[in-house]
Amino acid sequence: MKLPNLSPIPPYAHKNMPRTTATWLDRWDSSLMSSYATPKVVLESGRGALVFDVEGKQYIDLLAGIAVNVLGHAHPAVVAAITKQANLLGHVSNLAATPVGIELAECLLGHLNSDGRVFFCNSGAEANEAAFKLARLTGKEAVVSMSGSFHGRTMGALSLTGQPAKREPFEPLVPGVRFAEFGDANSVSSHMTSEVGAVFVEPIQGEAGVVVPPRDFLASVQRATRASGALLVVDEVQSGMGRTGSWFAYQNPSVAEGEIAPDVVTLAKGLGGGIPIGACVVLSDTAPRFSAGQHGSTFGANPIACAAALAVFDTVDREDLLPRAAALGQTIKARLNEIAPKVKEVRGVGLLQGVVLKDDSAKEVETRCLADGVLLNAATPNVVRLAPPLVISDGELSAALDVLVTAIDRSVK
Ligand SMILES: Cc1ncc(COP(=O)(O)O)c(C=O)c1O
Repeated sequence: MKLPNLSPIPPYAHKNMPRTTATWLDRWDSSLMSSYATPKVVLESGRGALVFDVEGKQYIDLLAGIAVNVLGHAHPAVVAAITKQANLLGHVSNLAATPVGIELAECLLGHLNSDGRVFFCNSGAEANEAAFKLARLTGKEAVVSMSGSFHGRTMGALSLTGQPAKREPFEPLVPGVRFAEFGDANSVSSHMTSEVGAVFVEPIQGEAGVVVPPRDFLASVQRATRASGALLVVDEVQSGMGRTGSWFAYQNPSVAEGEIAPDVVTLAKGLGGGIPIGACVVLSDTAPRFSAGQHGSTFGANPIACAAALAVFDTVDREDLLPRAAALGQTIKARLNEIAPKVKEVRGVGLLQGVVLKDDSAKEVETRCLADGVLLNAATPNVVRLAPPLVISDGELSAALDVLVTAIDRSVK
């Protein structure tokens, strides 16, 4: 299937470099740690929802760097913000404050509709590490996390991650973590004893294959934490920053009914629109806060990263991208439901969708889509994940869905 050429001139960064994918991947293989499988594509530049590889081939990006590039690639607002900030001040250490760092903390609390305190870091794993340390500061030894969950790869975040295959090679992990069944309120309640300091939960489990719990689940978890005096820690690393059509998924009535008021929210991925930044935000008065010397990060609140994040908040609001994310989610569902029964279910909210296939051919679908100029990924053997930038145009989305439908049709038996 041939994609329309939506932007005829890829903006090459390096005019005189080798233009063969194989050459670059040989170099990748002999210089990078094989913690990731060897990639199939070498990307060089991008604009909006389009990216271009070293051979000049165009792709429509339905993955956005796994739910990171909320505003797509090289958005002028992000480019301007980081350029301006880099010209002013690139890094200062946490011995000094900066206007952008303070403005971003205020902006974040404003979008979380709450007073609170922000700790800035650089990734989702670090945001959850910080939250894990706050849970220890309650003086209680245990925390509850969910089966199938993903909270990051550092030892603490991995200890919270409910995926045995990722955990087992690194055991013994941090002790005290109990796993409840995601989506099952009774299972959560059964783990809530007086030693539990916090419950960690993703509103939608992205890495597990975009699993959306029953709408009353978060409210039930909140009731359980309130009853036992434990913190409710909501991991919005993947689901946050407008992706579901609300700023944060716990605020979205399609994800969680009732008023959810987390004690702690963790963020990263989309926060910086492609520039690394994470945050652990304490929202309740009763939750512990770090005192001076208890936690830190050299690059936390880096001014360039903070400037990028401010540009993301500003642009999503100014371009009214939240309703657009919600509406495009409906477009995706409608188009892919047309090919039932090869597609069993399209689950997700807004621009975080999991296409559940009838068999385990998600990897084959990913490979075919790549060949035909669409980036997405197999989150699990039978689930294709879509997390496009919020700025994707109707034409780009429609062309990419045509490719995906053909790939599913050919791959699923
Ligand atoms: C819900 C969730 N939490 C935490 C993380 C870890 O984030 P990072 O890779 O930035 O450490 C991820 C990454 O996929 C995630 O999806």
